Amino acid sequence: MPAAPSIEVLPSGKALGAEIKGVDLTRLSPDAFERIRQAYHDHLVILIRDQDLSDPELIAFGKRFGELEPPGMSIIGKPYLDDYPDVLVISNLKSGDGTPLGNLGDGEAIWHTDMSYRETPVSAAILHAWEIPPRGGDTSFANQYRAYDTLPHDLHAKIEGRLMVHDETYNSAGQMRKGFEEVADPREAPGARHPVVRTHPVTGRKCLYLGRRRNGCILGLCLEDSEATLDRLWAHASQPSFAWTHRWREGDVLVWDNRCVLHRRDGFDPASRRMMHRVQIKGERPA
Ligand code: OGA
Ligand code: MN
Repeated sequence: MPAAPSIEVLPSGKALGAEIKGVDLTRLSPDAFERIRQAYHDHLVILIRDQDLSDPELIAFGKRFGELEPPGMSIIGKPYLDDYPDVLVISNLKSGDGTPLGNLGDGEAIWHTDMSYRETPVSAAILHAWEIPPRGGDTSFANQYRAYDTLPHDLHAKIEGRLMVHDETYNSAGQMRKGFEEVADPREAPGARHPVVRTHPVTGRKCLYLGRRRNGCILGLCLEDSEATLDRLWAHASQPSFAWTHRWREGDVLVWDNRCVLHRRDGFDPASRRMMHRVQIKGERPA
């Protein structure tokens, strides 16, 4: 009999993503967590619906994957939740005086990988949906093992073994981070340099690791060639056949492997409310 027999893993039918049914994330046996971890490595993004999690319960679930990484700087320059600095709020809501209560606002967040501008980007992120707009704000993911495995030969030859610049200046919503200025030459953008192709430390599989398009740059190619190559790489990596889109419901928990997936978010009506709480897991230097 399989361990934790009440748990079901239902693949999305797309290139990645699976829903896990029959679990309460506040009371997981070691066997149940092992099923969840295996599904996460098999499907890259996992969805668990109808979860009523307090912040300490979200933090405790996150810690089962590994040590938590404190969030990057919020756009207000301090943690959103004084009692839980490990939790990042993702929201368009504002307090009475107009101070944002969360990151990313209501606009589109373009295709990206979280915090790849760091030397050791986070390995996984966990989002828990508290409030969801009636329309819009869907989140899409794209499988970067698949993107690597299907790369045209000439593109592969161009990038294998090369490093890329991961600019820190802008977030995925196009907002400039505090303390940064406009980048004149992407080769000199502030942020980490990582291999364009990385090997996943757990699965041992290779995947594309592109970060985000803006101010991206492949070192060792001339700027013009780097731009043209990146345009082709991004068109390939973000194609619909590698992707799965999640339409949120309140109580949803999503866990994604930030090493081998890209994600993006649709914009939504600024007059509607969206609020998520998020924790993230420490990662390793991409290699
Ligand atoms: C993030 C992010 C997507 C969303 O938290 O890193 O990109 O659906 N959020 O809000
Ligand atoms: Mn993100």
